[in-house]
Amino acid sequence: MSGARIGILTVSDRASRGEYEDESGPAIRTLLDEVLVSPWAPVARVVPDEQGEIAGALRRMADDDGCCLVVTTGGTGPAVRDVTPEATHEVCDKILDGFGEQMRAISLAKVPTAILSRQIAGLRGRTLIVNLPGRPRAIRECLLAVFPAIPYCIDLLEGPRLDTDPQVVEAFRPKKK
Ligand code: MTE
Repeated sequence: MSGARIGILTVSDRASRGEYEDESGPAIRTLLDEVLVSPWAPVARVVPDEQGEIAGALRRMADDDGCCLVVTTGGTGPAVRDVTPEATHEVCDKILDGFGEQMRAISLAKVPTAILSRQIAGLRGRTLIVNLPGRPRAIRECLLAVFPAIPYCIDLLEGPRLDTDPQVVEAFRPKKK
């Protein structure tokens, strides 16, 4: 059993050209291995900062690879080439504003430049897509800040059950009435 499929999409011109090695995608994978105790399998891709390529990769991961969750890294800032939130918006049918609000709130307590991140999250069908900034430290801070709500979100989308290591992240599932 390979378990839940989780997409890890690195958005970087330089990593996609091989000018440097992608560190952010592997950082997400390591963090998810720490967080999740239920079986899961990564679907990883690296694309340049092009809205069409990012949107295409998100569609493939959601529609063809059957990922219940896709996490992106990079391209959320104000630079001219940063278009990850626009691509995410383009492919989603619902936006979940709370994710961006929570990630920026947590990050702002650490660095004033967190205000520059335009990261969003949304749903494409039964897939939850979450934008994270590019730096490995920011990845950890942001993903841990929102992960408590992710397993329940996937439950509501009728996806696979995600169980977490409570020492790392306590998943919150409201009690049924
Ligand atoms: N969030 C956290 N938690 N920690 C950080 O160091 N860096 C910020 C911000 N969010 C940061 C952060 C900076 S400097 C920028 S420019 C934006 O994320 C966008 O990053 P990106 O373009 O790599 O997505």
